[in-house]
Amino acid sequence: MPSDIVIDVENLVTRFGETVIHDGLSMSVRRGEVMAVVGGSGSGKTVMVREITGLMRPSGGTIKLFGEDIGQLSTRETEALRARTGMLFQNGALFSSLTVAQNIVVPIQAWYRLRPGLLDEIAGLKLALVGLDPSAGRKYPAELSGGMRKRAGLARALALDPEIVFLDEPTAGLDPIGAAEFDQLIQSLQQTLGITVYMITHDLDSLTRIADRVMVLVDKQAKIGTVDELRRDDHPWIKAYFGGPRGRAVAQSHGGSDQPPAAPQQPAPVKPSPRRRAKATTSPGSR
Ligand SMILES: Nc1ncnc2c1ncn2[C@@H]1O[C@H](COP(=O)(O)OP(=O)(O)O)[C@@H](O)[C@H]1O
Ligand SMILES: [Mg+2]
Repeated sequence: MPSDIVIDVENLVTRFGETVIHDGLSMSVRRGEVMAVVGGSGSGKTVMVREITGLMRPSGGTIKLFGEDIGQLSTRETEALRARTGMLFQNGALFSSLTVAQNIVVPIQAWYRLRPGLLDEIAGLKLALVGLDPSAGRKYPAELSGGMRKRAGLARALALDPEIVFLDEPTAGLDPIGAAEFDQLIQSLQQTLGITVYMITHDLDSLTRIADRVMVLVDKQAKIGTVDELRRDDHPWIKAYFGGPRGRAVAQSHGGSDQPPAAPQQPAPVKPSPRRRAKATTSPGSR
């Protein structure tokens, strides 16, 4: 398998009792891309992330993560593989009894014994990476705004310097400006750190802005294409999604321009790295 494929799913079958969720689904994700995942409610978007990361066993098929067939791995090996990923689950789920800084270092503490001072420094670094003030680290989740909580959750997902981050509807519940800022943050992290982003979203604005490719879960299968390719797709669900009134409005506002719409705030202060790609100058709508 070429090493630029980080997730490779073949013939995935997922069943709960009589209900079939995925039926021979195949797809792959390339290293360094932003893959947006859409599909109706209950189409198995969240379940598939759990399967890819070995939190749940599929009913059939093969899943390779970083080239390793996770069906063949021991629990310990699966955990080690999962440690190379970061996850921001749908409901963010920070531990309410821990400060933000303590939350961020939870994944680190599962693997390493580090002195508290060093953990604090790492938490500070991750906070900066997601554009939060160091003082946010001393707060409890309940003291943060929704947008700040999402950023804190993202900081925790980045704790172990993952190669892939899985984001489950990260902008749900944010206002349009907050969502645009969060998208810009994701994009700048992807560009500066070279992370692969697997983002489940309902947000058509969001995927038009930052996705390299889009995976649509329809008919228990996955269909992958660029936004432009999917806009021309004949499948009724895909047509309705991209071509409905909402989709047309988004297409118009993004369509004729080479530039993504200006986001209202600067991205997080991240340092450029040699892995930085030239993608910043093009928008998905221009390809
Ligand atoms: N542990 C489970 N046991 C039984 N059914 C489940 C379980 N997890 C998810 N499901 C069902 O599988 C379907 C897909 O779930 P999910 O992946 O959460 O959908 P979504 O695409 O909205 O994220 C849903 O109908 C859900 O009720
Ligand atoms: Mg879901």
